[in-house]
Amino acid sequence: MKPQILQVGPMMKHVEEALQGAYQTHRYWESADPVKLLETVGPQIRGVATNGHCGCSREIIEALPQLEVIASYGVGYDAVDIAACKQHNIRVTNTPDVLNDAMAEMTLGLMIGLCRRIPQADAYVRGGQWLERGYPLTAELTGARVGILGLGRIGKEIARRCQAFKMRISYYGRQAQPYEPYEYYADLEAMARDVDWLVVIAPGTPETRGIVSRKVMQALGPRGCLVNVARGSIVDEPAMVELLQSGALGGAALDVFADEPRVPKALIGLDNVVLSPHQGSATTKTRTAMGDLVVQNLAAHFAGAPLLTPVV
Ligand code: 8YV
Repeated sequence: MKPQILQVGPMMKHVEEALQGAYQTHRYWESADPVKLLETVGPQIRGVATNGHCGCSREIIEALPQLEVIASYGVGYDAVDIAACKQHNIRVTNTPDVLNDAMAEMTLGLMIGLCRRIPQADAYVRGGQWLERGYPLTAELTGARVGILGLGRIGKEIARRCQAFKMRISYYGRQAQPYEPYEYYADLEAMARDVDWLVVIAPGTPETRGIVSRKVMQALGPRGCLVNVARGSIVDEPAMVELLQSGALGGAALDVFADEPRVPKALIGLDNVVLSPHQGSATTKTRTAMGDLVVQNLAAHFAGAPLLTPVV
């Protein structure tokens, strides 16, 4: 008999096919009565496959008494209730590393887009304004100072690309990494004061919630730009909107928001922002590799082999 698993949210076609081939799969998000589904099949479920947005709540976890493993599609696993997993001895896997390059490419893309006002310039050409006058001059990344909040695996790939753009690089994190060639700041506000660009690429945890505070963004200042490709929770979003509106913060390039897919209305009309629908890892190549890792982690677990990318 195939083990039974719960799929919490939609996944790529190749992942769903692989899961359906190996397991008896129950599709939680499609169920008309999810409570009833958990009551009827919950006691047989041994695995969960989920995506980074749906995660897995304590409520679901505790409705699955035989649950052994949760495979999450995404490097950030903030939507999975890790405390509940530890309490009930449930293993958790994520999909690190395979998305580093795609994330870093998107980050630099957003930075160039904001700096050179590429989306606005595109609208300018499409709107026929070029026929009337030339586009205003913009800034450039070359020689600018960038501070990276979170010099982890993705942060390092971003830093390498910023080096290629001849930027001056510093970072903030819990501890200095003495073998990295960049300047370390133990104080985020001090780093924000000294840089032109602040790039947020830290995990969304209780510790990072709101650390890009009003004060930090004020320190970044009217000529400074904020880039967030991590989690909306890390930035004080209402303060950010206010500072962008008043010009106290120069600009923002945002791939993530506090209440996705809802974006604060006030951002839509602003010219000093570039908005992106949480697509840092969203290339076919990277999402395929992430999906493969979900499938491989579950297969390893049910074969009694070591998990490929465990977080718990
Ligand atoms: C995905 C992400 O959007 O990996 C992450 O942490 O935020 C993204 O890659 C998401 O997890 C897909 O469900």
